Amino acid sequence: MVEVNLSLLRRRLLNWYRINQRDLPWRRSDDPYNIWISETMLQQTQVKTVLPYYARFIDAFPTLQALARAPLPRVLRLWSGLGYYRRAENLHKAARRVVAQYGGHLPRDYELLRALPGIGDYTAGALLSIAFDEKYPAVDGNVRRVFNRLFNANGDAAVRGIASKLAQTSQPGNLNQALMELGATVCTPREPRCGDCPVTSDCRSRDRLGQRQSAQQRPRANFRDVTWPLAIVKYHGKILLRRRQADGLLAKLWELPGAEIARMAKPEVAIRKELRPLAVAGLRPQHLGELRHSITDRRIHAPVLLYRWPLKKRLPPGWRWILPSQLHRYATSSMTSKAVKLLIEHEKSPI
Ligand code: ADE
Repeated sequence: MVEVNLSLLRRRLLNWYRINQRDLPWRRSDDPYNIWISETMLQQTQVKTVLPYYARFIDAFPTLQALARAPLPRVLRLWSGLGYYRRAENLHKAARRVVAQYGGHLPRDYELLRALPGIGDYTAGALLSIAFDEKYPAVDGNVRRVFNRLFNANGDAAVRGIASKLAQTSQPGNLNQALMELGATVCTPREPRCGDCPVTSDCRSRDRLGQRQSAQQRPRANFRDVTWPLAIVKYHGKILLRRRQADGLLAKLWELPGAEIARMAKPEVAIRKELRPLAVAGLRPQHLGELRHSITDRRIHAPVLLYRWPLKKRLPPGWRWILPSQLHRYATSSMTSKAVKLLIEHEKSPI
């Protein structure tokens, strides 16, 4: 890394970014609140997925004060489907703290930002550089990959060292976003487009990357194949939802009864167990179809079983009958939304 001309590299990155940056809604704002929301949504989530969520969220909570005032279930509802729900809870908690402690303004200080729920090193750096023009690095997975290739920098310390040096510019936010943008659009994991890269002449890996990368170099998520049957229990036009527990996967979200099961286990047997709190036995389900869905490291196959419920029963706490058309009022997992869509399609043209 020693002989790299940092100022030339910065200039190349900034020029490239000025011309090639995507027109993204949070880039039209210099409000730290908007940037905070976008950077939080963009963790572990791709830009194209984030776009509609960001628009709806900012529409519903245009200011940090509005977010702080909102009840948490409403915030979770707007996050529904984006995954990693702890992010939404932390945003909400942090917004309340910022109102209580800093008069509703996000502090322009690394340590104070880091002390807020959900703000880690990356988000603090992104906020300080993009929203406040402070010379802080912001290293996400894309930036790490760019530095791995560009400088052969591998350890965290090396990557952070370079990022900190590069951020010493009058445009640290643009510089950091140029690196993220380069990683997202040109220096991609699988087939980098080295011909379009503004810093290819500085790149230690350019010869290697010209060809397709070997499978071994490719970062591969460690997915587990999982079966997760879902039950749609119907009674007089309503379906049954239940609320997940307060911690762990998909915490506190509403869902169709179901469970992750062992490969050899029978979906119907597993569902019978899930429905046991309702104490109705002997129902035969109809198979509506099978969904595919991914959550964190799980690649899920979800058989969807429809049960026509014979009688109205008192529900245990945390269970609720709802109309399918009211599902949007609940913070649900995407898998549950997909299954209800399947039901609606099925009822339009039952086979
Ligand atoms: N990923 C995380 N933050 C980003 C940003 N500001 N622009 C593009 N991609 C990003």
